Amino acid sequence: MKGLILSGGTGSRLYPLTYSNAKQLIPVANKPILFRVIESIRDAGITEIGIVVGSTADKIKEAVGRGGRWGVQITYIQQDQPLGLAHAVKVSQDFLGDDRFVMFLGDNVIEGGISPLIAQFAESEWNSQIVLTRIEQPEQYGVAELGEDGRIIRLIEKPKNPPSDLALVGIYMFDANVFKAVDGIKPSWRGELEITDAIQWLVDHDYRVHPYIHRGWWIDTGRPGDMLEANDLVLEEIEYAIEGYVDRDSQVGRRVTIEQGAEIINSVVRGPAIIGEGARIINSYIGPFTSIANNVTIEDSEIEHSMVLSNSRINDIGTRIQDSLIGSNVTISRSPIKPKALKLTLADHSQVGIL
Ligand code: G1P
Repeated sequence: MKGLILSGGTGSRLYPLTYSNAKQLIPVANKPILFRVIESIRDAGITEIGIVVGSTADKIKEAVGRGGRWGVQITYIQQDQPLGLAHAVKVSQDFLGDDRFVMFLGDNVIEGGISPLIAQFAESEWNSQIVLTRIEQPEQYGVAELGEDGRIIRLIEKPKNPPSDLALVGIYMFDANVFKAVDGIKPSWRGELEITDAIQWLVDHDYRVHPYIHRGWWIDTGRPGDMLEANDLVLEEIEYAIEGYVDRDSQVGRRVTIEQGAEIINSVVRGPAIIGEGARIINSYIGPFTSIANNVTIEDSEIEHSMVLSNSRINDIGTRIQDSLIGSNVTISRSPIKPKALKLTLADHSQVGIL
């Protein structure tokens, strides 16, 4: 089997973070979501992986490379315009050939691996397998209606009145019949060739599509709140590992990872939390559900339930930071220069909540 990861899109709902980075490269618990996706495909025994890229192609290629570090071989496939997930399958036909494949959206995070699912599909005679999960607001996703016998009756993309609470998770398995389906459908109201319509085409033409119901958590990291939620869920699984330096005056909780070269000086780190390589935490409090990325410095400050991306600096700000998503190379510090006022340099689309 082959793997196909979709990693295009502009990530506009995550501005300003995605002005300088592809959304799939935003780290969750200090590891880009895309790397997590590559690992779960690799762990399922697949080594030939295609990544469909769009306007952020250069960033993705620079970060991922040729796949050697995961023991996989990466092929990049350019999708010139974001014309939909089924269109992405179409442009990948040369790479996929006649092989069965798993397609994974590069901004989805799912609990557990996909190895059992892949094994099940590889050995089956199904033409496709889709992953469904019960969620509260299915109208934001593709939604499936199943019959009493558990078979798929229909699939609808973002329905106003969802027929069920079963959303389509961004993980799909196909054989080469999917190319007939993507050629057989028309663009939707949003001008995209929808993968949901392609799967419906398979169902309508009597191909066997097996619905698998996933019972763990799943997050599509489209918005800042989703990012923090994904970070919480991944941090839940973090282990105690101290590879950096913790001085005698500091307290580090049980579910905390401190990566190589990080330094914790006179501070409290309460897990689950991760402190990245080369980060420095001085006279500070790092609360639960916080990810501090590489080379961040936090001094005389308190922060919890937040993500701070690489090379940022937080210094003596006099109030606790919470529920925040802070990008790379950001500085937040107390200014001694009068007048006493907030002095901000914010990128377009920044959001600041003040006391
Ligand atoms: C896409 C699919 C949708 C699926 C979702 C999962 O939506 O069209 O059916 O439920 O991914 O993340 P999109 O991200 O294009 O809005």
